[in-house]
Amino acid sequence: MSSVVILGAQWGDEGKGKIVDHYAGHADMVVRYQGGANAGHTLVIEGKKIVMHLVPAGITRERPTCVLADNVVIEPNILIKEIQTIKDAGYKISPERFRISEKAHVTMPYHLMIDQLREIKQARAKIGTTGRGIGPTYEDKVARRGIRMGDLIRPSILKERLSLILEDRNYYITNYLEEKPFDIKKVLEEALELGDVLAPYITDTSKIVYDACKSGKNVLFEGAQGVMLDVDGGTYPYVTSSNTTPGAAAMSAGVSPLFIKNVVGVVKAYSTRVGEGPLPTELTDEVGDMLRFQGGEYGATTGRPRRCGWLDMVCLKYTTRYAGLTSFILTKLDVLTGFPEIKVAVAYEVNGKRYDDLPYDIVSLSGDVKPVYKSFPGWTEDLKGASNIDQLPKNARDYVEWIKAELGVPMVMMSLGAQRGEGIESQNPFEA
Ligand code: IMP
Repeated sequence: MSSVVILGAQWGDEGKGKIVDHYAGHADMVVRYQGGANAGHTLVIEGKKIVMHLVPAGITRERPTCVLADNVVIEPNILIKEIQTIKDAGYKISPERFRISEKAHVTMPYHLMIDQLREIKQARAKIGTTGRGIGPTYEDKVARRGIRMGDLIRPSILKERLSLILEDRNYYITNYLEEKPFDIKKVLEEALELGDVLAPYITDTSKIVYDACKSGKNVLFEGAQGVMLDVDGGTYPYVTSSNTTPGAAAMSAGVSPLFIKNVVGVVKAYSTRVGEGPLPTELTDEVGDMLRFQGGEYGATTGRPRRCGWLDMVCLKYTTRYAGLTSFILTKLDVLTGFPEIKVAVAYEVNGKRYDDLPYDIVSLSGDVKPVYKSFPGWTEDLKGASNIDQLPKNARDYVEWIKAELGVPMVMMSLGAQRGEGIESQNPFEA
């Protein structure tokens, strides 16, 4: 039995795509367990860049079967385009090795509209979403008015459900958003066409994942976003609309959580965030600009510049506990080369009071939170090409050793650079 969850330990964009791609080389199955086309995984393979939003990064490897599990929300147009992009890039994607849960919910055209217009209408309280219809799709799921992938291939069920659902959603759209209602005939026709294209991939994935876990295969559960964006554990309401944490992996895949052996958190050597919400260590000066420039910190899905800041150990210790990390992978340490001083928040101070743990009211306190920093001397050497932690300059090594000691779980890999293969691996989490 060797199932591993890989998830972001901060606000997403930790460089998970490359890590999932790396471990997919050891995996029999890769299961994406939450989120939708809000995610963007960038892979650089032999100099060629490919960005994926829905299909697990493992698809570029020969071996694993890739699965979109129940709690993923799927915008069929985006998925169909992505399948084509993957084929055009020369990778094999067929119904034998790419499977979509019939229970996964569909992001419908009205979800995209509601997400985008609501952000404009409620500008005062906007979340800074990716505009990909994620929140409204999950809302409809729990309100029991969702459309599932399995409905797309069952015309009579789809027609019946859509007529009920659109009655409700059109009321909201016309009365609150003051937009034209959606035409059921048009929505139905389009949905059935998309269903036809995706039909060969749609199935009961819980059985496939169960069989793989039960027979001791290497199953990699891939998270999207990060723990600080978890709808329960994150900086609510500035979060995404799903649970990003490992418990959600088993729930979404429809298998026992006892199958999960290791939980690997991906930790970027500094902090970034896109959208609104607290980022206590944010740097709005030229140091932040340098982090953004050196790290290429622009959203893979929306192209938005990411907010950048120093590593936040208060958040990281929280996410290590909250997500139950058994190990971590450090990414983008090479981005810090050239900074004379590197800082890490070890606590917060709010109006004279010190917080060693993440406070419940982080959102309302946000403007008053002052990080208490620990400072490290920087380094100037290029880190790329190091194949062993001992080859890093002393100051970089000290920084890494300190992070390891603070998190209290082993570091299984260090990724340096965007290319496949660039980095230092000390332990394969499937074997740990
Ligand atoms: P939504 O998931 O599009 O509803 O956006 C909610 C929040 O999560 C916004 O702040 C987004 O910028 C953020 N978010 C969603 N997906 C990602 C991601 O893949 N990486 C980083 N931030 C994300």
